[in-house]
Amino acid sequence: MSKIQAAITGVHGYVPEKILSNKDLESIVDTSDDWITRRTGIKERRILAKDKPTSFMAIKACEGLLSKTNTKPEEIDLVLCATMTPDMLTPSVSNIISKELNIRNAFAFDIQAACSGFLYTMITAEKFIISGQCKKVLVVGADKMSYITNYNDRTTCILFGDGAGAILMEPNLEGYGIKDSILRSDSEHGLDLLKIEAGGSKNPCSHETIDQEKHYIKQEGRNVYKYAVEEMFGASKEIMNRNNITSDDLAYLIPHQANERILESVAEKLKLPKEKVMITINKYGNTTAATLPLCLWDYESKLTKGDNLVFTVFGAGFTWGAAYVKWAY
Ligand code: UT7
Repeated sequence: MSKIQAAITGVHGYVPEKILSNKDLESIVDTSDDWITRRTGIKERRILAKDKPTSFMAIKACEGLLSKTNTKPEEIDLVLCATMTPDMLTPSVSNIISKELNIRNAFAFDIQAACSGFLYTMITAEKFIISGQCKKVLVVGADKMSYITNYNDRTTCILFGDGAGAILMEPNLEGYGIKDSILRSDSEHGLDLLKIEAGGSKNPCSHETIDQEKHYIKQEGRNVYKYAVEEMFGASKEIMNRNNITSDDLAYLIPHQANERILESVAEKLKLPKEKVMITINKYGNTTAATLPLCLWDYESKLTKGDNLVFTVFGAGFTWGAAYVKWAY
């Protein structure tokens, strides 16, 4: 009997209608469209209404996915959502999705690995599928970054946006799906360079933490940038080498969208032409756990069955990784 692999059998996304352009940001902080475009590649990002939570976007993405793939809610046996901006600490966004979409035969939980969240979650789903325990898994990446973004800090507020994406994963016996993966973390160097200091059990939110703007995301951008290039390149190269894939064999690299210059550097080091790199950062910014499924959603019509894809991510923790996937439809 052929080996069971976990294949992606559908994808859908959702971004809020409201656009925050670089021009808009010029009137909020001391920045310019020219600086943001040159240094990050971002032109605009989407912002969810203040009164709507992360699950609102996740549910929209999943609703579209179920309808597009003709999947009945009762067929889903696992719901996994990657997010660092859950509606509340508990219950999970995955449980909220399940309730709203009438998914009654599944178990559900969230995974928090910041910008690496979607890849970590996709690989977790894979393990439940290849073990034979699950047949139809909803894998979601959703983040409302605008609520943890400091619009007084020009070094971070230009980067982030809101969005959600979802994929359906199912067993495949014909050699399509996830072929290999690498997941890594380095907590020695990562803990201090990219974080939200307050709002957790170590430093609960108080008037003081709010006055000090400690409930917002902060990073040492230049340092994080260097690690992101090195580790996304390293993981991609390692997975390509051990599966004998050259850049000619690759249909697309699907990288986490943090900065277009990071993507260009990784592509250059892999000797990959830019046309083979999925890029959506220009219109969505960094949507954290949603960047990979939003890329798939955007490029879905360009993909063909059998395409070789390499996913790669880098995020807080630090966390990073890569996966080699043979596209299934
Ligand atoms: O998704 C998780 C992982 N995150 C990342 O991978 C993000 C990695 N980091 C980055 O993308 C970049 O480091 C940033 C986009 C955050 C910053 O770009 P940079 O080219 O590294 O700029 P920098 O921090 O070295 O700052 C260069 C200059 C500074 O001015 P001085 O000190 O040279 O006078 C900054 O104050 O640019 C200034 N600057 C800005 N100027 C206009 C910083 N932000 C802005 C801004 N507009 N928004």
